Amino acid sequence: MSLAASHPLRAHGTSSSRLVRALMGTRPEVVPVWFMRQAGRSLPEYRRLRARAGSMLDACLDPDLASEITLQPVRRHGVDAAIFFSDIVVPLLLAGIEVEIVPGRGPVFARPLRTGADIAAATRIDPALVLERGERVADAVARTTGELAALSHERGESIPLIGFAGAPFTLAAYLVEGGPSKDHLAARRLIHEDPVAWRSLVEWLAALAGAFLVLQVRAGASAVQLFDSWAGGLAPADYRRAVLPASAAALDPVRALRVPDGVELEHVPLVHFGVGTGEILADMASIGVDGIGVDHRVSLRDAVARVGREVTVQGNLDPALLAAPEPVLDAAVGSILADGLAARAHVFNLGHGVPKETDPAVLTRLVRTVHEWRAV
Ligand code: CP3
Repeated sequence: MSLAASHPLRAHGTSSSRLVRALMGTRPEVVPVWFMRQAGRSLPEYRRLRARAGSMLDACLDPDLASEITLQPVRRHGVDAAIFFSDIVVPLLLAGIEVEIVPGRGPVFARPLRTGADIAAATRIDPALVLERGERVADAVARTTGELAALSHERGESIPLIGFAGAPFTLAAYLVEGGPSKDHLAARRLIHEDPVAWRSLVEWLAALAGAFLVLQVRAGASAVQLFDSWAGGLAPADYRRAVLPASAAALDPVRALRVPDGVELEHVPLVHFGVGTGEILADMASIGVDGIGVDHRVSLRDAVARVGREVTVQGNLDPALLAAPEPVLDAAVGSILADGLAARAHVFNLGHGVPKETDPAVLTRLVRTVHEWRAV
């Protein structure tokens, strides 16, 4: 399937934005910067809006609200990309799985997938439902990219929207456990206990995640990030055998989308991210992605040594440093930017999400610091 000529990659010039150029391997003069969890609880304007809305998932399915929350950090901080305000469990919700997000805890499922029979029942749900029932998500994306075009015009820099999905393992870690857990033991156990059920579960989750990504890209997202937040908890051999093929399958439908005529990209840029993934970074980079998200446990220099120069690195300031005195923060940022020079290109980000107690003024200043930095 082809993306429409009205897609932002063409109509709003996001294919030449700093983010997309860096992901495709050319180094823009200015290092692009955005933050995981930039839309959310660190912003007083977010807390004000959310107080008026119902639950977190209600907010995700309210096009006006989701779009406004997505835009808040772009207006405030001047970041180079918006990340769509949603959640990794939204495709499951659209597929009819009962889930809520419990404040301070995370996703909780009414019926955890504990047995082979539970998994067989869930995986009978048609992943195409995500596209059929995703109208409000598509509407939120379309409103957001319309507003981003106006903001880009004011700023004189094109601002793309990043779509995202949770990778099959991270989704399974919640679904099998029934909620958040420290070490995702239930999912790790299932891999070995019932490899056949495991495989059908992650293949189904890959189809759901793929559909959720396609939904966002067709509606106007110009890049996507697959979050495998908890993959770092796996033995590398298990990751390679029982998880990575499903993550690749989640990205395949996006890779298959044809960019509009006149756009010089082979496909919509793909980023793969996880936490504590030092041992599996090269594997994560091996599935034809354009960018690899690196957390703060590995230096970008070491990350490049592991993943090579065929992929752009994204990261990797320890979120804890956002609370440090300015000179300490600036020194850390300077050394990350210098390490990023080892890569073909670098997108500045944190090693994981923005902590909720972060002073937003620190993020705004950080964006300026990254933008003013030049390689000497
Ligand atoms: O700014 C952004 O990054 C965009 C939106 C976004 C959210 N969740 C909004 C959100 C993104 C990209 C996610 C992805 C997500 N959700 C991941 C992968 C990224 C990561 O952080 O590792 C995971 C593991 C989840 C599951 C989830 N959803 C958790 C663990 C939580 C936090 C629960 C809590 O209250 O501590 C959520 C809820 C959530 N997702 C919030 C936001 C802004 C907080 C909701 C609120 O306002 O109460």
